[in-house]
Amino acid sequence: MTSLFYKSFHRLPDVRAYAPGRIEFLGNHVDYNGGNVLGAAVDLGIEVALAARDDGECRLVSDSAKDPVVIELDRIAPLTGPVAWANYPLGVISIMREEGFAIRRGFDFAVTSTLPAGAGMSSSAALELATAYALAALHGFHVERKRMVRLCRKAENEFVGMPCGILDQGVSAFGAPDHLVHIDCLTETFNRTPIPAGCHFWMFNTNKKHALVDSSYSERHRACSEAFRILKRANPGARCLAHISPETVVKMREELGVERSKRALHVTEENRRVIQALHALRGGRLDIVGSLLTASHRSSQMLFENSCDELDHLVDRLTAFPGVYGARLSGGGFGGAVVALTDETFGQESNLKRIKSEYISQFGIEPTIFHTRAGKGAGPINA
Ligand code: GLA
Repeated sequence: MTSLFYKSFHRLPDVRAYAPGRIEFLGNHVDYNGGNVLGAAVDLGIEVALAARDDGECRLVSDSAKDPVVIELDRIAPLTGPVAWANYPLGVISIMREEGFAIRRGFDFAVTSTLPAGAGMSSSAALELATAYALAALHGFHVERKRMVRLCRKAENEFVGMPCGILDQGVSAFGAPDHLVHIDCLTETFNRTPIPAGCHFWMFNTNKKHALVDSSYSERHRACSEAFRILKRANPGARCLAHISPETVVKMREELGVERSKRALHVTEENRRVIQALHALRGGRLDIVGSLLTASHRSSQMLFENSCDELDHLVDRLTAFPGVYGARLSGGGFGGAVVALTDETFGQESNLKRIKSEYISQFGIEPTIFHTRAGKGAGPINA
């Protein structure tokens, strides 16, 4: 990191901060519906280095982008085209200023990553959190972890324009080694739950390019809000879609129509699966946890319709291997990655080779395969 900063700005940074990527372990499209989700911070992430400038210029460089972005602090607005990666840090700066944080001078900013963009582990949330922690360190702001999560989500919702829930930012901020993060998304309560010994996480990225990911996500978001509006008529006390029972959804099938029923059933059953998984984790029942993961994927496939052939192929193949407890798409869907929960026997070279070559012969592209463990959450790097 220091070398990219030095090469770009011919001096050393004043502060540095780190934020990890995340695995969405269970709880698919439940976060913005007020339910429960489980995720893990991974041991790969993003580092941001910052140094203050005397003028109002912000200069941003990245190890994965060709050109630097130069923008006046008082003129920050969303960018388009190849410099759009800078919208994540710029969004955080803009929201922090809007909320009264006194950021009055420009800075030199460099970002490096061990988390490949498009790996399905939310490099965008990691970039937001690393930026927020670096800015706080540079200015001496003391900001609670939960507030950091909210600021970064707001940056993504309002500046980037992606109506995501709190999962990615929450897990990146609250992650801890050997723990899952459990979020009650309605109350925004964060808890850590230990991962039983002997579990392994494997990520398989489809590397599928899907141009419509953002609009498909927004469409699902809209369908869930509409379904909730209809279901609330029969349940005036309900505060969010995830708190409605699947049985009620089935009962109100007619009023909802086919599509909204399917979306709402996915969310309400998925919320139930998360609670069941929490119990199973406490009891060390990895077989049950695994079957809940696979059930989640089948629900994505049949009900939420946010899977695709590549994801289905990986889940089908993986769940046929001994040593795999369960597998599911992780994240928004329509491409992205599959997470598999396995025991220690699964990760042999021969297994991975087979999965890779079968995938290549079916889809003509190479999947990216990572073994990852639950790592620490976001924060400043104290040199
Ligand atoms: C993306 C969003 C999250 C969440 C998941 C689906 O990762 O950023 O907020 O909605 O999709 O569960």
